[in-house]
Amino acid sequence: MPRSQIIGTGHYLPPKVVTNFDVMKMMETSDEFITTRTGVKERRHAEADVSASDLGEEACRAAVADAGIEMGDIDLLICNTITPDHADPGTGFFLQGKLGLPGIAVMDIKQQCTGLIYGMAIADHFIRAGTYRHVLICCTEVLSKRIDGSYDGRNIAILLGDGAGAAVMGPSDDDAKGVLFTGLHADGSYAEALYTAAPGSALGRMQTVTKDDIDAGRIHFRMDGRCVFEHGVAGMTNAANEALEKTGLTLDDIDVLVPHQANLRMLELVVENIGIPMERVFINVVEHGNMASACLPIAIDQARTQGVISPGKLVLLAAFGSGFVWASAVVQM
Ligand SMILES: CC(C)(COP(=O)(O)OP(=O)(O)OC[C@H]1O[C@@H](n2cnc3c(N)ncnc32)[C@H](O)[C@@H]1OP(=O)(O)O)[C@@H](O)C(=O)NCCC(=O)NCCS
Repeated sequence: MPRSQIIGTGHYLPPKVVTNFDVMKMMETSDEFITTRTGVKERRHAEADVSASDLGEEACRAAVADAGIEMGDIDLLICNTITPDHADPGTGFFLQGKLGLPGIAVMDIKQQCTGLIYGMAIADHFIRAGTYRHVLICCTEVLSKRIDGSYDGRNIAILLGDGAGAAVMGPSDDDAKGVLFTGLHADGSYAEALYTAAPGSALGRMQTVTKDDIDAGRIHFRMDGRCVFEHGVAGMTNAANEALEKTGLTLDDIDVLVPHQANLRMLELVVENIGIPMERVFINVVEHGNMASACLPIAIDQARTQGVISPGKLVLLAAFGSGFVWASAVVQM
C-alpha cells in the first residue's frame, strides 16, 4: 500500500489589497488595535462578481499544472469553504463544473480552518486503499463578503482576507516519503463560540432566514474572541505535539511548521508552547490576514515557491477552527 503524497500545490489571491487604513473606513477600529492584537497589516478582497468557486478554480488549475498531470486525471474533488457560492448544493459542484470534471466524485466538507488537513486525511485513505489515484483538495474563501463592521462583528471582521489554495494528492513514488500522519479532533460543545446563526433550521420557526435575522446581525459571524483565542492556542499546540508523539519525531527533525494563520499573537504563543524556533515557522498572516481554510494551502504553496519547503523537507501542519475543530499532519516531502 503506497503512502499518499502532496504532488502539486497552487494558490490564487485576488489583486485588490486592503490595508488596515482601508478597514478603518469600513468600521470603528484603528491600525494600532489591529496590528497589536492580530499582527495583520494587509489582506486581499475579491470584487463583487467573484465567487468562492472562481478563486478556487484558479488555485486548482495551478495545483494540477504544478503536479504535472492533466485535469482529467483527477478522481475525487474535495472542497472546503465557509463562504459557499450558494446555500446549496455545495461549492464543490460549482467548482467541478468550472474545472470541467463531469462524472468524478465530489465531496464538500465543512471543517473551517482545518479543511486542508481533514481533506488530506480523506485523500490519504482513498489513495492508500487504491480507490482513487489523484485527489484534488480546494480550500477557498471570500470572507470579505461576510464582513460586519458593527460593534458586535468588528472583532473578527478585522482579521478576514480572501484567497484560495489547492493541493493535489497522489501515490508517493518513494515509501519513505509522503503523508506520515494525520490527526483529527473536534469538540462541538463550543460550536457557538464562533458561529453564524442564520440561515438555519434551529431558530425555532419555519423560516430559515428572516428580515429580523438580517437586522439583528444573526447572519454574521459572532465570536467570543477570548474563548477562541485560548482554545485556538491550546488546540494548535496539542495538535502539533500529538503529531510529534505519534510519529516518534522530535522538534529537531521538523524543518518547517506551517500553522493555520489565525492571528499573529496566537501563532507566537503556539510557537512558544511547542518550542520551535520562529525561523522554522512559515508565517504570512501579516500580508494576507486570516483566510480561514485557504490559509494552509496558500502558505504551503508560497513556502514551496520560496524554497522553504522542498523535496526532502519534513513539514508539520497544525490548524484550529470554529466547531471547535483542530488537526495536524506530518509530511515528508
Ligand atoms: C479578536 C481579538 C483580537 C480581540 O481581542 P480581545 O482582547 O479578546 O478583545 P475583546 O473582544 O475582549 O474586546 C476588548 C475590547 O476591544 C474592543 N474591540 C474589539 N474589536 C475591536 C476592533 N476591531 N477595533 C477596535 N476595538 C475593538 C472591544 O470593543 C472591547 O472594548 P470594550 O472593552 O470597550 O468593549 C482577540 O480576541 C483574538 O485574537 N481572538 C482570536 C481570534 C481569532 O483568531 N479567530 C479566528 C480563529 S480561526
